[in-house]
Amino acid sequence: MFDDINEVLLSEEQIQTRVRELARQLSAEYAGKDPVFVGVLKGVVVFYADFIKHFTEPCQMDFMWISSYAGTNSTGKMTVKQDVSADLKGRHVVILEDIFDTGHSLEYTYHHLLEKQPASLKICTLLDKPARRAPGITVKPDYTGFVIPNQFVVGYGLDFNEHYRNLPFLGVLKPEAYES
Ligand code: IMP
Ligand code: MG
Repeated sequence: MFDDINEVLLSEEQIQTRVRELARQLSAEYAGKDPVFVGVLKGVVVFYADFIKHFTEPCQMDFMWISSYAGTNSTGKMTVKQDVSADLKGRHVVILEDIFDTGHSLEYTYHHLLEKQPASLKICTLLDKPARRAPGITVKPDYTGFVIPNQFVVGYGLDFNEHYRNLPFLGVLKPEAYES
């Protein structure tokens, strides 16, 4: 079924190098702050695991799970399926995401977490697809792994119909695979 991958957009090595760089940068910026990294499930899990192994300072791991209301994906109506477990009040919080696409997920997640009164709240996304941004999105990534063109990518945690998440690289899915 991996025949549906057209090309490798980012190799395993390119991703690993960049994720280590990001982890090093945030280790310096968050030293002494005991940050909480909130991963947005499920797409982030592979990036999250690689990132956290290279974050060299004390920190806390947490996760949340959001979902779109059935049939209203394009309007960006979201709901919290599973909230974070830590008390974020007064904490330095960094949201980790797989991809910043239309921006609806991160817009929702950011404001949801802001209500918990963190001392600071930032966004770190592995991928950013600026060409896809929806109107009215106010948040933007503070840290970005790669800016990518407007193509549907899979692998390294990202899925199409829940498949391909286990690929160690990021590939471009053939349009025929999802347009049929
Ligand atoms: P949003 O459009 O920014 O709200 O992104 C919503 C979600 O869509 C992301 O967290 C991903 O799970 C998914 N997504 C967006 N673009 C892609 C892609 O190119 N490949 C796989 N999943 C994607
Ligand atoms: Mg996702």
